[in-house]
Amino acid sequence: MPTGFAIEPMRLEDIPEVVEIERACFAMPWPASAYKRELKNPSSTRYLVCRHYVAEPVLPSLDAPSHRKSSFVAKVLPFLKSDQEASPAHAPNPNPLVGYGGLWLMMDEAHITTLGVSPEYRGKGLGEFLLIGLIDVAMALGASWLTLEVRVSNKTAQNLYEKYTFKVSGRRKGYYTDNNEDAYIMWSDEITKLAFREKYKQLKAELLNRLANRTELAAPAGTPVQTDPARPLVTPQEQEEAAMHDEE
Ligand SMILES: CC(C)(COP(=O)(O)OP(=O)(O)OC[C@H]1O[C@@H](n2cnc3c(N)ncnc32)[C@H](O)[C@@H]1OP(=O)(O)O)[C@@H](O)C(=O)NCCC(=O)NCCS
Repeated sequence: MPTGFAIEPMRLEDIPEVVEIERACFAMPWPASAYKRELKNPSSTRYLVCRHYVAEPVLPSLDAPSHRKSSFVAKVLPFLKSDQEASPAHAPNPNPLVGYGGLWLMMDEAHITTLGVSPEYRGKGLGEFLLIGLIDVAMALGASWLTLEVRVSNKTAQNLYEKYTFKVSGRRKGYYTDNNEDAYIMWSDEITKLAFREKYKQLKAELLNRLANRTELAAPAGTPVQTDPARPLVTPQEQEEAAMHDEE
């Protein structure tokens, strides 16, 4: 299996690492219990993580449950019930979690609830990598639009979303209670339309190419990056639904 970065479904055992990044990202971090609740509601929520595979994963052993085993299983058999079960002990992971994101699906709208990258990994395309993971999931689930709230001062995040067609459609006064800051409400273009699909395909190809060519991101240097976030994240049934959606 290649080393590099991979997008995977978030599992309960990822939560301690997620919460650590969350604290570095947000003034009002969600507690671990909020993520546990989200993961227990897989019918309308999807949460992803980006993990940096520094070490070669060890093939799973049937009698020794470990983080690596679950991680391996998550790649080949996504959304198995066992993936959602926490491992009893949390040991430091040699392949650190570097970012995460999530969405809620409401009818044909995918609401991005969170997106964060560890400060030392920012500016390397990983926030974008996670966003395309979320867009792929939204498409596979049959969503027509993506929407989100973002602090009016958070130009970095707004730039990222604008790159993927999001536009400001409104403002929520005092949405963030820590400093009473307003939120912009942003909506993407219609993701089922050909114009979006073509633009998205091109942006995604550019990003994946950029990630694959940034040798400082892969460890050991020069080894391939696993850059297809779509495949492990949707069930065969979801893929079928997405294909039907595409044909409409
Ligand atoms: C927003 C965030 C997820 C971006 O992640 P990242 O990995 O640093 O971003 P990427 O390297 O993937 O950059 C993607 C795009 O974001 C924008 N961007 C990234 N860093 C930027 C910066 N310092 N200034 C302005 N725009 C920036 C650019 O549009 C960039 O595209 P480009 O490379 O073509 O210019 C990250 O800064 C973060 O975790 N911030 C704290 C949490 C947060 O604000 N989350 C969003 C909540 S709505």
